[in-house]
Amino acid sequence: MNARKTIGRVFRDLLLRIIRALDIKIFNEFLQFRVLRKNYRQLIESFSTDYLSISNLNLPENAMRFELLAHVIGTTPAEAFEIIVSLHKVRDIDGDVCEFGVAQGRTSAIIANELMSGDKNLYLFDTFEGLPPPSHEDELKDDIFNLGSIEAYTGQMACPETMVRKQLEKIEFPNHRIHIIKGRFDAEFAQSARMPLSVSFAYIDFDFYQPIRDALDFLHGSMPEGGIIIVDDYDFFSTGAKKAVDQFTREKGETAYSFRVAPESYGKYAVIQKIS
Ligand SMILES: C[S@@+](CC[C@H](N)C(=O)[O-])C[C@H]1O[C@@H](n2cnc3c(N)ncnc32)[C@H](O)[C@@H]1O
Repeated sequence: MNARKTIGRVFRDLLLRIIRALDIKIFNEFLQFRVLRKNYRQLIESFSTDYLSISNLNLPENAMRFELLAHVIGTTPAEAFEIIVSLHKVRDIDGDVCEFGVAQGRTSAIIANELMSGDKNLYLFDTFEGLPPPSHEDELKDDIFNLGSIEAYTGQMACPETMVRKQLEKIEFPNHRIHIIKGRFDAEFAQSARMPLSVSFAYIDFDFYQPIRDALDFLHGSMPEGGIIIVDDYDFFSTGAKKAVDQFTREKGETAYSFRVAPESYGKYAVIQKIS
């Protein structure tokens, strides 16, 4: 049984590598069509609720927004929409924008597209070699790729940096405002001169406990009042994301940060805002 499972996994990985390497067009288009339909359905359902009702929002028009939202993968379109809304909430707050964990860069393109009209820089952090090993704070909660253990996720989700650049080129985001910072993010990395001095919005999508906690600690020292942090995978995939967020918000206290978890149907993420 185990041998059959392993062979199945090896075969699937090989097939995915071939598809990626050849960029088989028909497969891509089929996949995109399905993503489009699913994403539009979720967006429309989200807009009909009070939490993210489109009529309550005062967003500037943007020709690319819905096209990009229709193609998000990994992140739900409702979560991506919450990212957009948050970016506009912090528009007048001093500070750049960061994404911690970018993979293929579709969320990065959504963020960049909303920053086009301002002057904020976009900082993108990733190893581009996939997930690092988990810590003992990470237990497998949802086996999203059916790999059987949390350790087996080491190296998964690797995407080349060129893929991210391609996504950003599509929307013609000014090159001088992009900082793609390759490497394994940790507490020491957070001290480096490559980090932004001030951050008004951050999307943390590192999946595992330690880098999420390190990113939150970095942001604590660099985020002005009113700044917003969205952390993906709260109570999903690894137990680490929820642990890091709960620990951080508890330690800093209710007077320093407001904190809420998104409704179940929107996705698995938490929104933290610095209030003092
Ligand atoms: C879930 S993916 C990001 C998906 C992306 N935000 C999106 O919505 O399309 C997680 C990414 O985090 C990166 N990552 C995880 N831990 C990291 C760390 N300590 N340093 C740098 N990159 C890391 C992985 O390489 C992977 O690309």
